[in-house]
Amino acid sequence: MDEYESQFATINPQQPLKLLTDWVQEAKDLGIAEPDAMNLATVDRAGNPHNRMVLMRHINDREIGFFTNLESNKASEIFATQRTSSTLWWPQLGRQVRIEGTAIEMPRDMVEEYYQSRPRNSQLSAWASKQSTELVSMERLHQEFRKYEAKFSNKKVPTPIFWGGFTILVDKIEYWYGKPFRLHERIILSKEENNWSKTRIYP
Ligand SMILES: Cc1cc2nc3c(=O)[nH]c(=O)nc-3n(C[C@H](O)[C@H](O)[C@H](O)COP(=O)(O)O)c2cc1C
Repeated sequence: MDEYESQFATINPQQPLKLLTDWVQEAKDLGIAEPDAMNLATVDRAGNPHNRMVLMRHINDREIGFFTNLESNKASEIFATQRTSSTLWWPQLGRQVRIEGTAIEMPRDMVEEYYQSRPRNSQLSAWASKQSTELVSMERLHQEFRKYEAKFSNKKVPTPIFWGGFTILVDKIEYWYGKPFRLHERIILSKEENNWSKTRIYP
């Protein structure tokens, strides 16, 4: 391979999330574990950052999305400040993607569709978990799980009102491609007004 060859020669900045979609698909096709796992950094009202992993379960040409408990710490932080930053990394492919954007609560029809597609036990564990609040013992968690198992036995498990998702309207995305000798390749696509620009930066 020509060492000067760019991995990003065909990137169209007006389709900023296209390559992310392709890379996630490639990771899926290769059977890589959790191909859509990303870290999600949020900021609380006092300006403190917090981050954790979530699964990126929605993507289109302008936004990404994930599902969670709407009473969790991450949800409170998003409701307070809206800004998020995420990173995906596929070590087997030597690729990283960083995404910045503004999060808003996901429309309920998208939440319903996703929740109802989940395995029944995952649906029940969403009911059982008061995410981010104190839990006295693991026994209590299992009791809660069994409580909802009994409550909804032989019934469709309804989507809890406290469970939902967020879409992140992306305004900056960086693609990173690992190369020998740390001569990696980085491209930043950023939104200015309604136009996207493309900038190459040093690794
Ligand atoms: C690989 C991975 C994927 C995860 N995906 C999700 C997810 O999609 N949604 C979610 O609410 N928590 C997910 N979690 C758990 C979160 O990392 C976190 O523990 C939880 O959401 C509570 O975060 P919070 O207290 O900051 O709100 C995942 C954890 C791991 C390790």
